[in-house]
Amino acid sequence: MRNVTLEKIFTHPIAQKYLSRSGMAHAISVAEYAFSYAQKFNVDPDLAAKAGLLHDIGHYTWYNNGEWDFQLYKDNDIHAIKGANRAHKLLIRSGENRHAAKEIALAVLLHTDSYLPEGHLHLNPLQKVVALADEADEEPSGKHHYHTIDQKAALARIRRLDHRIEEIQNIKSQKCSS
Ligand SMILES: [Fe+2]
Repeated sequence: MRNVTLEKIFTHPIAQKYLSRSGMAHAISVAEYAFSYAQKFNVDPDLAAKAGLLHDIGHYTWYNNGEWDFQLYKDNDIHAIKGANRAHKLLIRSGENRHAAKEIALAVLLHTDSYLPEGHLHLNPLQKVVALADEADEEPSGKHHYHTIDQKAALARIRRLDHRIEEIQNIKSQKCSS
């Protein structure tokens, strides 16, 4: 049984404020990809979808004279660090289990190595799923951050994902009790 649904997270004012900075459509697509990859990598689909939804919640807007300044972004960005903290706070406030909140926050922290000095990250399966899901929705020049989605359509996709996660969890709990 889930403590917190995607809908509860998605409709929280913190998520509404910060997810729109890097694109709500991108956040939802990455949640959907992460859900799909979770089956392949034998990862909890609930954690994967939540981390996918929240992976870019730490973005700051690097505008300079009305234009996105890529150099300023590249030099100063810490969105994964900020995002891990913001996602964790939002999850705990929403009533998420502390261990799940930590796992999701770590997947947000490690979904990209763009802010790190050179080196290789050793990702666990959940972290790998979220990084792959983000890559799957990526478009050249960051275009994936600019797709728009209206609130009604966004909520319908979030609810569909919640429903699919619950279906999988029900099947698993039936198998365990039989
Ligand atoms: Fe992303």
